[in-house]
Formats: sequence, structure tokens, C-alpha cells
Amino acid sequence: RIPPGVLAARDYERLAEQCIPADRLAYIAGGSGEDWTARANSAAFGRWSIVPRVLRDLRTGHTRVRIAGEVWAQPIGLAPVAFQKLVHPRGERETARAAAATHSPLLLSTLATTPLEEVAGLLSPEAGQPRPWLQLYLQPRREDTLALLRRAEAAGYGAIVLTLDASIQLASHRALRAGFRMPADCVPAHGSIGVPASALPAGASRIFQGAMAQSARHEDLAWLRGATTLPVWVKGVLDPADARALADAGCAGIVVSNHGGRTVDGVAPSLSLLPAVREAIGSHVPLLFDGGIRSGADVFKALALGANAVLVGRLQLYALAAAGALGVAHLLQLLGEELQACMAVAGCASVADIGPDRLLAVPDFNA
Ligand code: FNR
Repeated sequence: RIPPGVLAARDYERLAEQCIPADRLAYIAGGSGEDWTARANSAAFGRWSIVPRVLRDLRTGHTRVRIAGEVWAQPIGLAPVAFQKLVHPRGERETARAAAATHSPLLLSTLATTPLEEVAGLLSPEAGQPRPWLQLYLQPRREDTLALLRRAEAAGYGAIVLTLDASIQLASHRALRAGFRMPADCVPAHGSIGVPASALPAGASRIFQGAMAQSARHEDLAWLRGATTLPVWVKGVLDPADARALADAGCAGIVVSNHGGRTVDGVAPSLSLLPAVREAIGSHVPLLFDGGIRSGADVFKALALGANAVLVGRLQLYALAAAGALGVAHLLQLLGEELQACMAVAGCASVADIGPDRLLAVPDFNA
């Protein structure tokens, strides 16, 4: 049942307190440190307003987009979010059912609590539903990464999305204060985040000689591209020069993201670097965006600033907690309708019509 009082996509965030135990919610809602970046991700949308048009013929209007050869009903997908059994006993199965019902793209986390084959089995590309994509954390041993790739290829996944920004993930103080510990029944079905705990010599840095020594480099990306038949996207890119280098290296697409503000507090809000990344890679490289999306107006603004489509992370978990598959499907429908309303007021008949000229920066953006 759709929970009463949910009138807008954002309402699922308001409901979260009622649906998710406080310590789990602190882990999910939190970012890193004092959560400044996580908050700034959402606040960044408040800097922009939508410029309306009138007398436009929108009778053929629609939200379909073609991303990497596949048609998505709307430019809104489900971000890879780990451990979905934290908020619902059937976890990713429910999310997959929502993706199937709404023909939305689903990115499954390496740290999902449901095997990737089970998720793929709930989606039918023959019925026009987008194939799921697998978000990848490179595993400490290449043979384990290879095994994951073979499973994703065999199960019909459409792409691999290598997350590059999670080598350092400092916990949210809010989650630490709430005493959050991952419950024993939330076990990742495929692999780890990729950084093994290794003993360091005295005086070595846990950051440089620890986490960063295990972190992916350009040669690992080249290896990955050669190791799979699937297109390889990269997620967690904010710097325009990095984006350009990754596009030049042959990545299928780029996800502009700061991991929902969960790496190190103080990182720039995702939206603030989106226009520069789009400019650096040109108009032809597919670009997804995530970070702070809470409404269809936020989706509109990200599209106007250069994204081909967006992903939603936390909202997905909040809707999953509130009403399972129905909640996630309802969330996607609400986001789509809110986006359509923005397109209508801005005179845009298709996503391609949504350009930077539809936005105006407002100086007093905390209004
Ligand atoms: C994430 N995110 C994430 N990203 C990724 O590449 N692999 C993962 O396993 C996870 N896991 C994960 C768990 C939780 C609880 C959260 C909140 C986030 C990041 C996610 O894909 C996305 O980048 C952000 O969540 C987007 O920001 P919003 O929509 O949550 O504001």
C-alpha cells in the first residue's frame, strides 16, 4: 500500500524516520564526518531556478531517453545502493520489481544482499525493460573480479559501472554516534569493497600505504576494459580533466557523483562540477549524474546542466523501506511526473530540449 501523505517524491525522505530504525537511518542518511557534503549536494539545487516559456506546443511531449543504445522511459535510474536488506527483508528483489514495472534502469551494487542472477531474473529485456547494470568494486584478487564479470555477462547485464571514488570512506559521525553496526543478516552476496585489511609497517600511513595502495589506477581500468565484453562506465568522477581522460581512454560513459557525500566531508557538491565535466567531455559522451536528487525539479536542473539522466540513491531506500516494490515504483512515477511538470512549464517537449538556457542562477539561493 502506498503510504498516506506521500504527495511528492521528497515525502519519502520525510517518512524515513517512521520506517527505518534510527541507527540504520543515520548510516543511510549520513555522509561522511559532519555530513556537510551530503547536505550540500541537495542544497546545490537551490541555487538554480527554472525559466518558463509560454505558447509552446507540447502535445507530443515525452521523457524517453536513449542511453548507450537502450531506451529508458524517463531519465531516472536507481543508483547502486549496497545492503538493501537493511530496510526491507526482500531488499534488492523489491527494487528490481519496481524497475521492471516502471521500465527503469537499475544499477546493482557489488555489495548487494541479493545475488545478481536473482535480480536479473526479475527483469525481462524482451518486454522492453532495460537490462540491469552491475556496479563494480575491483576485488583484491583479479580472479574474483573476473568471476564477477563472467557472472554478470552470463546473467545478461548491460554494462559494468566501476566505482572509483570509494577507496576512502570515512564514516558519518551521526552514524557513529547512533552506534550503527552492520547487522549479521546483511551479508554482501558477491564481494567486498575491495580494500583488504593488511598489516602495515610501523610509521606507514593507513591512508597512503593502506587504502590508496589498493586503489584502482589507469592500468587497472585498461585491464578491466580488456577483461569483459560489456561496456565499462566509471562512477565517482568530479574533476573535468579526469572526466576527459576517462572519456579519451574509451569509457562508455561517466557518472558524475561524490558517492552521496560519503567519502570525505568537504568534497564539492556533485552538481557544482557537472557543467564543467560536461564541457570537458563534449556532448557525445553519455553522462549520468547523482547526488542530492529529491524531486523532479532537481532532475530537470541536472539535465539542464549537462546530464543525460540521473540516478537516485537515498530516496530509493526510503521508498523501499516505506512500501517495498510499490513504494519504489511510486517514487519513480512521482519523480517522472514532477519532471514532466517542469518540462511543461519550461516549454520542453523532450529531454533534448532541456538546456542551460532554461535555468537562472538566483543569488539568494537559501530562500
Ligand atoms: C551508496 N552509494 C553506493 N555507490 C556505489 O557505487 N556502490 C555502492 O555499493 C553504494 N552504496 C551506497 C549505500 C548507501 C546507504 C548510500 C546512501 C549510497 C552511492 C550511491 O550510488 C549514489 O552515488 C548516492 O547515494 C547519490 O546520492 P543521493 O541520491 O543518495 O543523494
